[in-house]
Amino acid sequence: MEQKIIELVKNTKAKVNDIGSAKELNDLKVEVLGKSGELTLILRGLKDLSADERPVMGKIVNDARVELEAVIGEKFAQLEQKELNEKLLKEKIDISIDKKTPLGKLHPLNIIKRRAIDFFISMGFIVTESPEIETTYYNFDMLNIPPDHPARETQDTFFITDKILLTTQTSAGQIRTMEKIKPPIKMISPGRVFRSDEADATHTPCFHQMEGLVVDKGITMCDLKGILSSFAKHFFDANTTIRFRPSHFPFTEPSVEVDVSCVHCGGKGCNVCKGTGWIEILGAGMVNRRVLAGCGIDPDVYTGFAFGVGLDRITAIIHGINDARVPFEGDIRFLKQF
Ligand code: DAH
Repeated sequence: MEQKIIELVKNTKAKVNDIGSAKELNDLKVEVLGKSGELTLILRGLKDLSADERPVMGKIVNDARVELEAVIGEKFAQLEQKELNEKLLKEKIDISIDKKTPLGKLHPLNIIKRRAIDFFISMGFIVTESPEIETTYYNFDMLNIPPDHPARETQDTFFITDKILLTTQTSAGQIRTMEKIKPPIKMISPGRVFRSDEADATHTPCFHQMEGLVVDKGITMCDLKGILSSFAKHFFDANTTIRFRPSHFPFTEPSVEVDVSCVHCGGKGCNVCKGTGWIEILGAGMVNRRVLAGCGIDPDVYTGFAFGVGLDRITAIIHGINDARVPFEGDIRFLKQF
C-alpha cells in the first residue's frame, strides 16, 4: 500500500507539472483528492488494516494528501498568474498607437474673445462672468427696463418662468458687478446670451457678447471714445477709426452705436460694409443715473460708461464669415481654417 501511495504521489506530481490550464488541474485534483479520488479510496481502505498498521498508513496517506494539495495549490497560483498575464497582454490598449490623432485647437470665436480680454486686461480691467440663467431683475428691471418698457419686446426672450429667463444681454453683469464692487470699477464680462430668434444667415438663438463697464469720478464720453478707439486699432489694424452714432438704450444716457472703418476696404466702400465704409460693432453710452443710483452709487459723485460688443460679429468681420450659423455647426472643415 505504501508503494502504491508513493507511486500515486510521483505520478500526480508529474501530471501537475505538465498541465497547462486551471481546468485540467482541477480535474486532476478531483481524480486524486476528490470524494471518490484515488487517495480517498486508499484512505477508505485503511479500515481493513490491523490496529497497528492503521495509524502508520494513516499518517502516510495524510502526508501524501498534504504534499499533493501543496503542489496543486502552487500550480494553481502559477496558472492563475500566467492566465492573468496573457489576459493583460491581450487586452492592452496602446494609447500611443494612433500618432496621427490631430491636436484640437481653439474655436475662432474663442481666439477673438481671448484677444479682446487680453486687450482689456492690459488696460487694467477685471474679468467677471454672470449667469446664463438670469432673473428679470438683473436682465431688465435694474437696467432701467421696467416690466412694460418696449425695450423688453426687442429682446425676444426665452422665459423659464415669469421672473427667470435665459440672459438676453451681458449688461446684466453690470448690475451684478456694481452690487458687489464700489467705484473705481473697470470690468469686462464676456458671456453667452440667448434670444428666441429663428436661425438664419444673420441670427442665431445663442450668441456671444462682451460687456464693458467703467465707473469712477469724472468719467466722460471722451474716456469711452479713447478706450474704444484703442481697442479698434489693437483689434483690427492701426489705421482703423471709429465713429459714434446717436442711439438709445434704457441703461445709458446718452447712448451711441459705434462703427469701425471697414477693415476690408479701409473705408472706401465694399460688399462687407455695404458700400458705406463703416461697420457697426457695438452699443455703448454713459451709464444712466438711475442705474447707478439703483446700485447704491451716487450719480452726483460718480459717472461711468458701458459698452456691449457682439463677439460673433467681430469674428465674422475679421474672418469674412458670411453666415452666422456656421461657427455653431462644429464642421471640422470650417474649424480647421483657424
Ligand atoms: N445690451 C445691449 C444689447 O444687447 C448692448 C449694449 C448697448 C450694452 C449699450 C451696453 C451699452 O453696455 O452701453 O443690445
